[in-house]
Amino acid sequence: MAQVSLRGVSKVFPGGVKAVNKVNLGVENKEFMVLVGPSGCGKSTTLRMVAGLEEISEGDIYIGDKKVNDVPAKDRDIAMVFQNYALYPHMSVFENMSFGLRLRHLPKNEIIQRVNDAADILGIKRLLDRKPRELSGGERQRVAVGRAIVRKPLVFLFDEPLSNLDAKMRVQMRTEIHKLHIRLQTTIIYVTHDQVEAMTMGDRIAVMKDGVLQQVADPIAIYDHPKNKFVAGFIGSPPMNFMEGRIVKKNGRIYFDEGKIIVKIVEDMHKAITPYIGKEIIFGIRSEDIYDKLFVSEAPPENVVRVNCEVYEPMGSEVYLYLNTSKHTFIARVGAHDKPKVNQDLDVVFDMSKVHFFNKDSEETIV
Ligand SMILES: Nc1ncnc2c1ncn2[C@@H]1O[C@H](COP(=O)(O)OP(=O)(O)O)[C@@H](O)[C@H]1O
Ligand SMILES: [Mg+2]
Repeated sequence: MAQVSLRGVSKVFPGGVKAVNKVNLGVENKEFMVLVGPSGCGKSTTLRMVAGLEEISEGDIYIGDKKVNDVPAKDRDIAMVFQNYALYPHMSVFENMSFGLRLRHLPKNEIIQRVNDAADILGIKRLLDRKPRELSGGERQRVAVGRAIVRKPLVFLFDEPLSNLDAKMRVQMRTEIHKLHIRLQTTIIYVTHDQVEAMTMGDRIAVMKDGVLQQVADPIAIYDHPKNKFVAGFIGSPPMNFMEGRIVKKNGRIYFDEGKIIVKIVEDMHKAITPYIGKEIIFGIRSEDIYDKLFVSEAPPENVVRVNCEVYEPMGSEVYLYLNTSKHTFIARVGAHDKPKVNQDLDVVFDMSKVHFFNKDSEETIV
């Protein structure tokens, strides 16, 4: 069993930078946990503390039932894959993959068996005699992963392993690491700044900002129920649209008034929104929850807003519309065959059952 548990873990670097701030995170046995956040938010530092490459300033880390704060990296039974593959240039692929096992004095037969098995899984058997310089980026990355697999660790740690690959190879390796997890059935903590990787690979996602964990949940829960405005804006592409405005009540109905556009709030949200009547608020709507009225039969009139269509971007499978209320710009993702005229008024429909509201001061989700 290899669950990993971080309890109140902080890291303060000499000079006073608090890179990680009281992180509590429980990774279950065999779970694929993705730690995601913008550059500099403390992801690598967190991972390096789990690996034993960085001292912990405060808190405890457990691997399995064992507190590992003072256990050296080599005794933690983990393997780490980095962004820069750090292969030894003068060694062949076989030698690179077997290096750690040779250091541990494993029997030769066992080493050959493990390297062959890993090479098989990764489809790099024919490369075993090559030197790293004779490999493509994707192949080098596979070797780096292979070097970790042969160790048969309790826990894999990945730190942005796909960042150096081109877009197409990234997508391919993403799927392969996913498959690898299903096959190896080990606990993985995977660090990335890429929210698409987080969404597609993680059993659960831990979103981090400024050293603080913001939310830990499965990808769909994070997407549908972000805990605050930061998570709402970070997860999803294009990002959630935000507009500042005010909650108003007229004839027993409650509306969000943006200044130029006004939309009616669904009754399910009334209870949560009522304390904000007359107050400023942040409204959020995802681009896929906005429709061109032309393609909606029977749009409720109070959900229709007139905006200006500034740019039209065909993506092939869909179209992005860059819209402007004259106070806020926002993006709608509409059907591939929609082609509204640019720089003209356009009526769009908000799916008001899908919108989000955030407290303007705390930026916490209201509903
Ligand atoms: N060795 C170090 N000494 C001082 N500050 C550091 C050191 N390593 C990282 N930091 C700082 O800690 C913060 C988090 O860094 P890091 O964990 O690498 O972020 P991420 O991996 O999310 O991009 C950053 O502000 C970074 O500058
Ligand atoms: Mg990093």
